[in-house]
Amino acid sequence: MLNMPKYEKIWLAIGTGALVVFLAVTGIMAVSMCLNPPNGMNMAIKPENVEATAPFNSPGLKKIGPNEYRATIISYTFGYKPNTITVPKGATVHFQITSKDVVHGFMIPGTTTNLMLIPGHVAEYTQTFNEPGEFLFLCHEYCGIGHQAMYGRVIVKN
Ligand code: CUA
Repeated sequence: MLNMPKYEKIWLAIGTGALVVFLAVTGIMAVSMCLNPPNGMNMAIKPENVEATAPFNSPGLKKIGPNEYRATIISYTFGYKPNTITVPKGATVHFQITSKDVVHGFMIPGTTTNLMLIPGHVAEYTQTFNEPGEFLFLCHEYCGIGHQAMYGRVIVKN
């Protein structure tokens, strides 16, 4: 710093300032992302209380309208409860899913369903199944040794 030309000191100060601002902004974003997980979730449950808290105390498929269902699913290492749901062709399914342990994923290839499951937070997504068949759903967040065995099925009946 002692024998630096004036302009060099100014640019050094600007560079240092920009770095500080950058770190502050990314730090704030990291914290706020953590507090507000990415898919419009609402309530937070203590992960260890998930199975005792409604609606996750009775996971499964419930009919809520004409060909309209709510699928309440708990994810865990390494599976989903329930891991198979069966609906008629054309059904609209409102998924509400959480994790009771670590971060998992819920993706149905070939559809737009793609959720990150954060422990204790409720991820929600609505998907309509117009084509009959079997749809695999799977965990696409690496969660440990059994990750690749973490999947289930939506069976759409004709
Ligand atoms: Cu659960 Cu990967």
